[in-house]
Amino acid sequence: MQGYVNTPGDKSVSHRALVLGALAHGQTRITGLLESGDVLATLEAVSRLGADVERRGEGVYIVQGVGGTFAAAAATLDFGNSGTGARLMMGAIAGARGQARLVGDDSLSSRPMGRVTTPLARMGAQCRATDSRLPVDITPAPLTGIDYRLPVASAQVKSAILLAALGASGETIVREDIATRDHTETMLKLFGAKITVEPDGEGRIIRLNGPQTLTACQIGVPGDPSSAAFAAVAALITPGSEVTLTGVMTNPSRTGLYKVLERMGANITVTPAGEAAGEPVADFGLRFGALTAIDLEPEIAPSLIDEYPVLAIACAFAKGTSRLRGLAELRTKESDRLAATHALLIANGVDARIEGDDLMIEGGTVRGGGHVRSLGDHRIAMSALVLGLAARDAVTVDDISMIATSYPAFIADMTALGAMIKVHP
Ligand code: S3P
Repeated sequence: MQGYVNTPGDKSVSHRALVLGALAHGQTRITGLLESGDVLATLEAVSRLGADVERRGEGVYIVQGVGGTFAAAAATLDFGNSGTGARLMMGAIAGARGQARLVGDDSLSSRPMGRVTTPLARMGAQCRATDSRLPVDITPAPLTGIDYRLPVASAQVKSAILLAALGASGETIVREDIATRDHTETMLKLFGAKITVEPDGEGRIIRLNGPQTLTACQIGVPGDPSSAAFAAVAALITPGSEVTLTGVMTNPSRTGLYKVLERMGANITVTPAGEAAGEPVADFGLRFGALTAIDLEPEIAPSLIDEYPVLAIACAFAKGTSRLRGLAELRTKESDRLAATHALLIANGVDARIEGDDLMIEGGTVRGGGHVRSLGDHRIAMSALVLGLAARDAVTVDDISMIATSYPAFIADMTALGAMIKVHP
């Protein structure tokens, strides 16, 4: 693999830019928006709730916000595969007095929503879920602030509460035991919100006094470290590779994978390249080299929560036995990602096992040749293809269509770096 990739826009930041732009007073200009299935579902949802969204070019959008109150007309909003879209919008709709039914595809409809509806109900929101799953119905109701300790380390839950708090009376306090991605807090400040964040051990305490209205601004979306992860690991495990990934967001709550790869001996150079949307950005240089196994502590999980499948691929090529600890949350992702990652390794001749919530991987040379079921999960599909690039025999994936939910240019970017991927319609 040789060459460079312009990293596509960050999915988390793209969702937030649309949601905050839709809530704000005035016109927000977004550049570098990730035009993937998940983000376009959020775009459609905010449009149905009264925001006027206009595309001006590739990744360039103007959002005319509603100024705090969504249209009261009942709307059915289909979030497709996107947990981030559905969960953030539950908070935004409750706070902005909107009325909607939220639905999703089979994968999203099986994921837990009680973690969001429970705190929102405590604020006074009228949100009815079916067995703590989608569909969720929200009807307008007055909200009051709450003091809430997150029972799971989840930026989606934290963000839903903060978005609802914008429309609630009084102070909302969110306490997290382990810091999760803080893009909502950072972007709320760009939109003029008054919000305080203070460290609290390994976690944070976030305070926001409602009600508050947001003021439109300009957002340039930085590159997604979670999407860059696939080319990064592919370069590190494929002999002779030298790859540059430009414009990657380096918010420490997102760069756990890269720190772990460095601990495993990876050769990564990080050249700072300014800021976008209040987030630090850098260009990454990656060169093939020997990796050694890692015993990874569970506390680091939030900073690489989406990167475990591709980290597992790196471990499969590293010398020794790796143990990735504390992966229970992976069971609630687009698929049961712990089981799916394990199955992908086994199918390709890697000795791996699950012990409790830990994944153990024996690294070395990888046979490959497996037939992988992606189970509707974009990150499993991309991880399987990355394994195939460096394994002895090619890997087959049954369905890769869902890669477009997060990284529509994946095949094109990997091919530009020299990867041979055959796509059968
Ligand atoms: C996200 C938070 C994470 C992550 C997801 C995006 C976000 O989910 O897995 O892909 O944008 O807030 P959880 O908050 O459920 O851990």
